[in-house]
Amino acid sequence: MRKIIAASIAAGSVITFVDPSQTADRDGGAQLAAMCASCHRLDGGDGGIPTILGISPEMLTRAMLAYKSRERPSHIMRGIALSLSDEELATVARYLATLNRQVRP
Ligand code: HEC
Repeated sequence: MRKIIAASIAAGSVITFVDPSQTADRDGGAQLAAMCASCHRLDGGDGGIPTILGISPEMLTRAMLAYKSRERPSHIMRGIALSLSDEELATVARYLATLNRQVRP
């Protein structure tokens, strides 16, 4: 019994450590993008809110900084932009860029 527990703990730690930053980044990006998807549809559909698919990481970052600084007025997006750290912003920008490549043939 003790051996089984030890083995599963060992297996568990292997799973935990097989986590190169690439995987973590993608997962983090997907989580963050799920937050955006409640308004911005991630299937490319446009329900009156501009799509953020096809936006380059540079454009996305620029737009978010403009919302943060009120250079671009939007109560909704200012709140969202302020809630994201620079690192989270970079993560979601990278994720949205890869998503775009997958969605468009
Ligand atoms: C509560 C709804 C809502 C959520 C959630 C939301 N947005 Fe927005 N977003 C909007 C609206 C509305 C606009 C249009 C604002 C304007 O007129 O500038 C917008 C505009 C944008 C733009 C500018 C698009 C363009 O074409 O210029 C970007 C970039 C953007 N959002 C990114 C994001 C990201 C990234 C997230 C998730 C972290 C997110 N948004 C979450 C509602 C939302």
